[in-house]
Amino acid sequence: FQTKSLAGQHLLITAGPTFEPIDPVRGITNLSSGKMGYAIAQAAWEAGALVTLISGPTALATPHGVKRVQVQTAQQMHDAVMAALKQQTQQAFIAVAAVADWRVANASTQKLKKTGEHDTPVLQFAQNPDILATVAALPDAPYCVGFAAESENLLEYAAAKRIRKNIPLLVGNIGHQTFGQDDNELVLFDAQGTTQLPRADKQTLAIALIQELAKRLSA
Ligand code: C5P
Repeated sequence: FQTKSLAGQHLLITAGPTFEPIDPVRGITNLSSGKMGYAIAQAAWEAGALVTLISGPTALATPHGVKRVQVQTAQQMHDAVMAALKQQTQQAFIAVAAVADWRVANASTQKLKKTGEHDTPVLQFAQNPDILATVAALPDAPYCVGFAAESENLLEYAAAKRIRKNIPLLVGNIGHQTFGQDDNELVLFDAQGTTQLPRADKQTLAIALIQELAKRLSA
């Protein structure tokens, strides 16, 4: 039933968590399943877009018609996004990935060993690049869409985040139990105000979001 509202448009999407190694067999990640980002990639393809999906580790199948680039760390995700932008002008960038804010600065090339009873490793952290803010700051930036998963004061924090990251559209997850769930409820923030997308499964929400995006791209 969906019209090809994004026919011929190039869309770049990040999805899933990132995984930041501690040593060759351990790492730090988060509970993002990738479901929302993958559903958006699928909906965008169904709306006629040419979709590149830069994905952290997930258990999901590649959406039909979508070009998927697999990464592990935030730095790799950043590099893959930049490479995709260099290769092809993108009309929109949708940052759905739950990117780790920090990586382990003193990751070990060998597996850490238990040495004694009271001997515990000390991890040091370094900040990861903010992929969305980096893309939004490019002189020829595509239309940038960010996601916000706040645990409180969503309306206030999300509106502020949109301005701070300098992006035209920010999508807020209502409620903080969204990771891994099949349902979600979204609220869109742009310069015009807010648009509610009522609670539904992630596929339905993805189609609604893509329609909202298409409206804004053609405005
Ligand atoms: O600042 P915060 O992490 O809450 O912002 C979330 C938004 O920014 C999401 O769209 C996420 O994909 C993006 N992001 C990013 N790179 C980071 C951190 C967040 O692209 N290092």
